[in-house]
Amino acid sequence: MQRFITPLSVIGLPGLFKTHRLFTFPHPLFFNHKTPFLPYFRTRLNNRFMRPIQMVDLKQQYLAIKQEVDAAILDVLDSSAFINGKPVQELAADLSRYLGVKHTIPCANGTDALQIAMMALDLQPGDEVITPSFTYIATTEVVALLRLKPVFVEVDPKTFCIDPEAIRKAITPKTKAIVPVHLYGHVCNMEEIMKIAAEHNLFVIEDNAQAIGSDFTYSDGTKKKTGSIGTIGCTSFFPSKNLGCYGDGGAIFTNDDALAEKLKMIANHGQKVRYYHEMVGCNSRLDTVQAAVLKIKLKKLGEYIAARRKAADYYDNAFAGHKHITTPYRASYSNHVFHQYTLTLDGYNNVAEVRNGLNEYLAAHKIPSMIYYPVPAHRQKMFAAFGGGDYNLEITDWLTDRVISLPMHTELEEDQLQFITSKVLEYLKSKS
Ligand SMILES: Cc1ncc(COP(=O)(O)O)c(C=O)c1O
Repeated sequence: MQRFITPLSVIGLPGLFKTHRLFTFPHPLFFNHKTPFLPYFRTRLNNRFMRPIQMVDLKQQYLAIKQEVDAAILDVLDSSAFINGKPVQELAADLSRYLGVKHTIPCANGTDALQIAMMALDLQPGDEVITPSFTYIATTEVVALLRLKPVFVEVDPKTFCIDPEAIRKAITPKTKAIVPVHLYGHVCNMEEIMKIAAEHNLFVIEDNAQAIGSDFTYSDGTKKKTGSIGTIGCTSFFPSKNLGCYGDGGAIFTNDDALAEKLKMIANHGQKVRYYHEMVGCNSRLDTVQAAVLKIKLKKLGEYIAARRKAADYYDNAFAGHKHITTPYRASYSNHVFHQYTLTLDGYNNVAEVRNGLNEYLAAHKIPSMIYYPVPAHRQKMFAAFGGGDYNLEITDWLTDRVISLPMHTELEEDQLQFITSKVLEYLKSKS
């Protein structure tokens, strides 16, 4: 508003036209994204009035809670309890309540959470850990870091999550743990996985980095939050996550008292009493500033998930029935929280080329899109020494050539969704 009342004498006539949008046509007061005439003008005006599209719009999300967040951060600065301040314990209690789990151990990031979880289970070098190959590298990297043996198995092509049948087939006498990853925000079939684990006496470490807030519904109708089902649950608070902080952060969850004690010690140099180190641990803490931010954002998580689902519904409708597009599947036992909205393209001879072309076409129209992940774990050089090259994971390779994730966050607006979907359809039409 300030700009509208600047005296003319101060800025001069040319300046008036340059700086005052009041004199621009069409004026944003009358033609904005809520204007009834917008569909008519849309093509010509889109670039002018639409907010730039981000894969994840952290700035807009921050602006909506700025006052509360700024005050909470100032409180931390005022207290100067930068490490282990009150918000860290408060957040742990809030998360335990939210997930319905007995213990929450905050830590420095999601990768540490997985590493600390595996350290606490006393796994020995050479023990086998079953994981999907179709996941973010952290899930499998920590297995190798601890000199355990990653055993890569297939995912279900519809849910993108680890296939329980593939787990069964991969079990050997050396298998000690399973790491289901709730990929893109879709829940793994935890009932089946926990059954397999019980039959074979295996630990289950849930990688919940992409699905915090989602529920698993058992066949008897009871529900549990992901991260609270396995022996240990792990999550990441990386800024772009559904519950993200303003830096790095993570947390570990368990219902087991003894394990909780051990996880806490490992995250704190193996000590319970200061300077008395009972086991080899590491240094993995969540900063007080991050905990203060997360406490505020946790209260909003339900609202954030609803916004993601609304955007997903829009995408689903726009792409419904398209013969080359499969929209994300929503299994009845999972309530998808859409960390990512990932399409699977099919029916082209050169499908990877078309998919990569779509990625470039969208970029040319200032629409970001991502390929999660361009190289599956078993094909990474990192795992050559772990026999990665010996695997034949056809579904994983099939998906790797076909998936593409579209912008997904809590602040997506209808004009942005309309623009994104129209450009996806426009490009694919040109390829038919
Ligand atoms: C599935 C999965 N596991 C683990 C991690 C690791 O989390 P962080 O980046 O906080 O270490 C991520 C985060 O990107 C992830 O997506």
